[in-house]
Amino acid sequence: MRVIILGGDGYIGWPLALSLSKKGHSVMIVDNCMRREVDLELNVESLTPIRTIEERINSWENITKIRLQYENINVAEEYLKIKNLFSEFRPDAIFHLAEFKSAPYSMRSAEHKIKTIGHNVNAANNILSAIIESNCNSHLIHIGTMGVYGYNSQKNTFIPEGYIDVDMHYDNNFLEKKNILYPFNPGSIYHLSKSLDNLIFQFYNKNDKIKITDLHQGIVWGSQTTETSMHDDLINRFDYDGDYGTVLNRFIIEAAINYPLTIHGTGEQTRAFIHLSDSIKCLELAMSNPPNPNERVRIFNQLSETKSVISLAKNIERITNCKIDFLDNPRNEAKKNELEAKNDSLIKLGFEPKLLNDEMLEDLLNFAKIYSNRCNIDKIPSRPKWN
Ligand SMILES: NC(=O)c1ccc[n+]([C@@H]2O[C@H](COP(=O)([O-])OP(=O)(O)OC[C@H]3O[C@@H](n4cnc5c(N)ncnc54)[C@H](O)[C@@H]3O)[C@@H](O)[C@H]2O)c1
Repeated sequence: MRVIILGGDGYIGWPLALSLSKKGHSVMIVDNCMRREVDLELNVESLTPIRTIEERINSWENITKIRLQYENINVAEEYLKIKNLFSEFRPDAIFHLAEFKSAPYSMRSAEHKIKTIGHNVNAANNILSAIIESNCNSHLIHIGTMGVYGYNSQKNTFIPEGYIDVDMHYDNNFLEKKNILYPFNPGSIYHLSKSLDNLIFQFYNKNDKIKITDLHQGIVWGSQTTETSMHDDLINRFDYDGDYGTVLNRFIIEAAINYPLTIHGTGEQTRAFIHLSDSIKCLELAMSNPPNPNERVRIFNQLSETKSVISLAKNIERITNCKIDFLDNPRNEAKKNELEAKNDSLIKLGFEPKLLNDEMLEDLLNFAKIYSNRCNIDKIPSRPKWN
């Protein structure tokens, strides 16, 4: 297949590009390296020493003789370049990963709120307009997040895959049965931008019959995949800082450098998790099984399991004997929640979730230890406050 990966220099996009190209697909990476600029703004670096995009691509070609194509385009601002690229490359599938992806970063200041909403919403709208105008009939695959639903679910309920049957009771006693989008309840500006993406997808799918799969993903953990481990030049990013580091990866890095695990609040928050290599598998499954013509926006939950933050911390404490620090929670979120989510659709397509186990955690800990001297402990605390 001919595949464009928007955001192909990122944490998920880079290993996805390598995996797809190794399987024989013709891959074009589009990335304006905005994520690397955010590192400069925050004065922090990935724990792992990532090479420039050009160096990565050259190394991949030297090692495998496979050429990855690359264009530096800002998809949120350079509509014409995107449209022309789609017209010339004629992708069968387009992965849209090119967004600001951090909730704490989006809550830093008014400027960051404006930047996150403007950037993410414009990117989705530009990409969909370009698919129509270039007449390329591509399947758009977007990574959304489980976080668009908020974290207030009760016992005995679960997050369905995108849609739910409801009885609508009007105040004239009329009852209407409907199948609607499962209600959004975003907890940060980042999650709000992802909720808005959903409405944009619904519109373009209804109006222009664009084939769209939106993958509502859990928190990704891990750093390397088979392909990124092939050479130091291919190493993937591994974030630990208070803005971009995600909970389990942060715990691993904290344990690796003997820093107490940072729990916000009591740790009774439950979240969905998926390993990086499973995330790549799910993206590939979604690509190989596109929606039928005229199918509504397909929404899959992309997760392997749900876990409470405290249970993850205890797991790592048991293996490493590290300390745990309970900190005031800078986020505006429920202290405690249940979370069950269906992931039947990807399982039906062949997804076999890799569940967290001690061996995987130990491997990742040993990997993090190799780069522990690159960790700047001043960057570990998460400082942005929700309000
Ligand atoms: N990593 C996770 O735990 C996780 C969980 C759920 C959802 N997601 C979603 O998955 C997607 C990919 O996540 P990631 O962890 O790889 O993020 P990332 O920040 O590492 O990668 C995103 C890439 O997109 C590029 N980019 C951003 N805006 C761009 C623009 N306007 N034009 C061109 N390139 C641009 C960045 O430079 C970066 O390389 C994101 O949309 C994110 O919201 C990630």
